[in-house]
Amino acid sequence: MTAPLSAAVRDRPPPAIAEKVIEVRDLTKRYGGNVVHEHLDFDVRRGEIVSIVGGSGSGKTTLVRQILGLEQPTSGDISLFGENMSTIDPHAARLMRSRVGMLFQQGALFSSLSVFDNIAQPLRELGRVPRALLHDIVMLKLEMVGLPCKHASKMPAALSGGMVKRVGIARALALEPELLFLDEPTAGLDPQSSEEFVELVATLHRALGLTVVMVTHDLDTMTSLSTRVAVIADRKVLVAAPIEEACGVEHPFIREFFLGRRGRRALQALPPERRAKLPPAALASASAEVSL
Ligand SMILES: Nc1ncnc2c1ncn2[C@@H]1O[C@H](COP(=O)(O)OP(=O)(O)O)[C@@H](O)[C@H]1O
Ligand SMILES: [Mg+2]
Repeated sequence: MTAPLSAAVRDRPPPAIAEKVIEVRDLTKRYGGNVVHEHLDFDVRRGEIVSIVGGSGSGKTTLVRQILGLEQPTSGDISLFGENMSTIDPHAARLMRSRVGMLFQQGALFSSLSVFDNIAQPLRELGRVPRALLHDIVMLKLEMVGLPCKHASKMPAALSGGMVKRVGIARALALEPELLFLDEPTAGLDPQSSEEFVELVATLHRALGLTVVMVTHDLDTMTSLSTRVAVIADRKVLVAAPIEEACGVEHPFIREFFLGRRGRRALQALPPERRAKLPPAALASASAEVSL
């Protein structure tokens, strides 16, 4: 379904990795006595696709929510496009929100609104988009995510899981953001839909020069898309590096996640020049039931 755009950008180089667009410094986040983040540092550069991985409850969603300004840090600094989020004025904060798109894990779409109205909602909030233009923008976004226009009048309940995610992306892209956040985008999708979703993100990354930050448990999605992977453990970002480097860091979570049987199998999908850099433990036969 994504054939036209994906074919058009297939031979294009991926966007160049450029300046830092996210800088998180010495972040601490507490909920009462629950310390979620402590002395956490995290950077993302323009043009990257960074996957955030970590155990359940390790603070992946909380980190994203703080970067988006939906949740306040207990201490520490977060900058977005070079602007410190704790000292930013309300007008600049509003502009900032249009530079960032987000696909949340839950409640991807408003169930009472049609596909068209879901995608149009961020544009209507701007309050000054003429009807005809609004229509054209929504149709363009639908096409961009590989959905035929005939789906515009459908309600979310009539869509497959994969289509709901596509519409969610179309809505996240409505204001043409430079930075896209995805929280567990392939959770609950069947393998075929997950693969199509990966292709869509790769296509949008190339076509729009998007920077993507993605929380994921899905080893295959992470392996095929990430320029770097950030591992959250022990309340901080333990390592943020290309997968072949990150998986060599000595830590129980990393060993279990990357070097278990499923992890090793997923790592085989890396291109040969990157596979050659994997640590020996990642190369042990992925089909053998070895306990590590
Ligand atoms: N609004 C909140 N109030 C209190 N505790 C919260 C809140 N949001 C998240 N937490 C806690 O913070 C920790 C990290 O949660 P979360 O970021 O959702 O983890 P993850 O996305 O890695 O599974 C968990 O212990 C969770 O219970
Ligand atoms: Mg989460």
